[in-house]
Amino acid sequence: MIRPRRNRKSPAVRALVRETTLSASDFIYPLFVHDKDVNEAIDSMPGCTRWSIDGLVKEAGEAYALGVPAVVLFPAIAEHLKTPRAEESYNDDGLVPRAIKALKAAHPGLCVITDVALDPYNSDGHDGIVRKNGDDLEILNDETVEVLCQQALSHARAGADMVSPSDMMDGRVEAIRESLDLEDHENVSIMAYTAKYASAFYGPFRGALESAPKAGDKKTYQMDPANAREAIREILLDEEEGADILMVKPAGPYLDIIAQMRETTTLPVAAYQVSGEYLMIKSASQDGWLDEKAIVLESLTGIKRAGADIILTYFAKDAASWLK
Ligand code: PBG
Repeated sequence: MIRPRRNRKSPAVRALVRETTLSASDFIYPLFVHDKDVNEAIDSMPGCTRWSIDGLVKEAGEAYALGVPAVVLFPAIAEHLKTPRAEESYNDDGLVPRAIKALKAAHPGLCVITDVALDPYNSDGHDGIVRKNGDDLEILNDETVEVLCQQALSHARAGADMVSPSDMMDGRVEAIRESLDLEDHENVSIMAYTAKYASAFYGPFRGALESAPKAGDKKTYQMDPANAREAIREILLDEEEGADILMVKPAGPYLDIIAQMRETTTLPVAAYQVSGEYLMIKSASQDGWLDEKAIVLESLTGIKRAGADIILTYFAKDAASWLK
């Protein structure tokens, strides 16, 4: 008789036949930073913190020591610095460039990644520049891409290893690549949010940065959750435009897209377990309804099994310590 259970009979045999293994080196740790001297708990994401630059350096160092190779930065920008054209997004002395310099000075080997998009800096709370026609909002593509290029350059000048456009404007990967190359930043990589869906799972993140759109939604630039073929179109474009790593976001509800992306491209595939996925696990674990450690490791294993080579997760540091 054929007995599949023989391959499950002991921890040793299960270890031998295991197809997917998680490791701290799979993770990118998203971290929030603000321009204050104190660290602040984030109400919408229990367990996450808006760090001072000093706090950020310490937290990133602890994760790095546990084997997490990379962090990605999200700034909470003071309200008075937000403008319709998001000029603060390319201020060379702004919060993100200062945070990059502090991180690279303390941890030269850590891979520092930055988010490229206007929403934290834009008084309209959109990833691009908004033109208002009465009640109608138009998100201006090409004007936004010019600002994104300036933003990517200011991050590269500060020493970022990788920039990560999360804005979903058309043509931005190519434009950013050209701008970086022209200023001799040919070694700065681009991790593109290739298939980024217009998802309600981003709600807690927008609370963390107070960056929710003031009006309208993001459906004219982020993808329709109902579409899979369209992700292939985005993959082909981002590859041709020069992206180094492609991303799917969110992760858990989009495992089919991760699998399809893994089949379609030879580039590394990243998946972002976003704030809403984090919050669902965190809130259900707080009163012991779910076993947090088991659920986190299972959810991350599922994302990796689907085809992700890299996972962005707010659990990166905890998971790395559990995997030790
Ligand atoms: C904004 C950005 C968002 C996230 C990462 N970059 C929010 C959005 O698109 O509205 C979401 C991350 C998360 O929910 O964890 N460019």
